[in-house]
Amino acid sequence: MAIIAPSLLAANFLQLQRDCDMLNASEADWFHLDVMDGRFVPNISFGPMLIKFITSTTSKFCDVHLMIEEPEKYFEALKEAGSDSLTIHVETCRHLHRNIQLIKQLDMGAGVAINPHTPVDLLKDILGDIDLVCIMSVNPGFGGQSFIPHSLDKIRQLKEMITERNLNVKIEVDGGITLANAQSVIDAGADVLVAGSTVFNSADPGATIKALKQL
Ligand code: DX5
Ligand code: ZN
Repeated sequence: MAIIAPSLLAANFLQLQRDCDMLNASEADWFHLDVMDGRFVPNISFGPMLIKFITSTTSKFCDVHLMIEEPEKYFEALKEAGSDSLTIHVETCRHLHRNIQLIKQLDMGAGVAINPHTPVDLLKDILGDIDLVCIMSVNPGFGGQSFIPHSLDKIRQLKEMITERNLNVKIEVDGGITLANAQSVIDAGADVLVAGSTVFNSADPGATIKALKQL
């Protein structure tokens, strides 16, 4: 049974309380919050201020995905905003290890995300220091894109690396998850499924979350 982490990026921001209430009443395990800066990715979403409102509605785990340059500038503000875990992109960090340490010093979970073109091998020397790897199965920046099939090979490879070394690192898969492909993602080794449009664009989001949870 996978951890289900609906992405609020696909929520209705004029109905945010309603959408948070829906997630709280659902079988969703985590809230997935996507921060975008218009520099690392070609889109802008929201930052610590909105995250603080969102986290105040829930006691569920708030998993913050930072698609931003110089993410370290925001670690403290994101902690104060109620984040439980921060995931930073390997492509944005010259000093990835230092940044992971900073996140841990602030007593949050630490994750590393990789773009579709970034090999999982690159994580070899950071894997022992983190709680989660986020494999991007679309190019980051927008919801509603199609799942890139090669991501399944990356999930399998990463799973092998983690199992071989007996590490306690979760594999999160983010982008293009649907009810049709979720089972293959879980079978490949995913522990956490992020789902934005599949949940929020469905007629009954609570039932969709339940269906994902039952896989
Ligand atoms: C994409 C974000 C995702 C996004 C997923 O850059 O990181 O979390 O919200 O949306 P869907 O599930 O619609 O692909
Ligand atoms: Zn995300």
